[in-house]
Amino acid sequence: MPKETKKAVAMRILVTGGAGFIGSHFLRLLLKRDNATLIVNLDALRYSGNLDNLRDVASHPRYRFVHGDICDAKTVEALIKAHRIDTIANFAAETHVDRSILEPAGFVRTDVIGTAVLLEAARTAGVRRFLQVSTDEVYGDVSTGRSKESDPVAPRSPYAASKAAADLLVQSYFTTYGAQVLITRGSNTFGPNQYPEKFIPLFVTNALEDQALPLYGDGLQQRDWIHVEDHCTGIATVLERGTPGEIYNIGGGCERRNKEVAQAILNILGKPGALIRHVTDRLGHDRRYALNCEKVRTLGWQPQANFEDALKSTVLWYQDNPRWWGKIKSGEFREYYERLYGARLST
Ligand code: DAU
Repeated sequence: MPKETKKAVAMRILVTGGAGFIGSHFLRLLLKRDNATLIVNLDALRYSGNLDNLRDVASHPRYRFVHGDICDAKTVEALIKAHRIDTIANFAAETHVDRSILEPAGFVRTDVIGTAVLLEAARTAGVRRFLQVSTDEVYGDVSTGRSKESDPVAPRSPYAASKAAADLLVQSYFTTYGAQVLITRGSNTFGPNQYPEKFIPLFVTNALEDQALPLYGDGLQQRDWIHVEDHCTGIATVLERGTPGEIYNIGGGCERRNKEVAQAILNILGKPGALIRHVTDRLGHDRRYALNCEKVRTLGWQPQANFEDALKSTVLWYQDNPRWWGKIKSGEFREYYERLYGARLST
């Protein structure tokens, strides 16, 4: 493996959760974006962390993988020191709302304690920049208008509450220690390599298998969709040009009702509408999220994807990659699926 010279390395970044959906796309973007950044990926490889997402970059000379947990302070401290890390982007998180309703404790551990461990390790080692990848869910249900960064957090699920707690901790490091922190709050992200527990990949893969699409409640909930590549360029822009201590919303501006998205997926695949099954709603289900993204636009970022085209290419990716999701759906996923949907789909 060629050694990078000290002079050539622009940034020595620790990307946590880099084997996950958004993290793996971000990592690939960084490797493409400049030719000097060294990337260390720390991932615990829990159920949704997947090295298959990184096969194409696994032997890249500016990429290193470390198998470990962000809650393990010793591992984090040692790798910051060993790789002379100057920047951290924290993607590592438990992210699925339904799982947080089934088992909230793991969300507090990874999302809150894990962030606390990273912040403290970064402070002690003098890491230059710390970017926290957060979510629009911290604003809670938004019946009208669009959430601004200055709005108070009002999380409603254990997942959203854990992320909001982590955001507050990150901000406290700015106020208390002057740490150079940034927070991004992204909207609903979709694209290739998304673990099929989330709405779009679940519905696409179920439709491909001629299985029912379990639509919660009336299906009229609204989400603001963003393609993963747009989300990642947004995060990279904030990392490069954001003002420390600030929060930046990153949304695609493509508001759609769940029912419309489900129908669009079926249309792309030429499958019957009868596959849609209205099932018992998610507990505390937020009806709508929507982001005001004026602030990130002042940094020169804007999303590129058109929702319909990006949805189509995403659906086709799952159609073309049954081995990627087939492997996942035959493992731990089955037990989870039965637990969450078994009773819902049997009535
Ligand atoms: O808004 C950003 C957030 O988006 C991220 O921070 C979260 O990590 C991500 O999970 C996502 O949260 P949502 O709860 O909005 O995403 P999910 O894909 O779980 O669901 C999208 C919508 O689809 C939501 O209104 C619930 C609905 N849904 C979802 C599933 C899994 C269904 O109707 N049926 C389903 O089986």
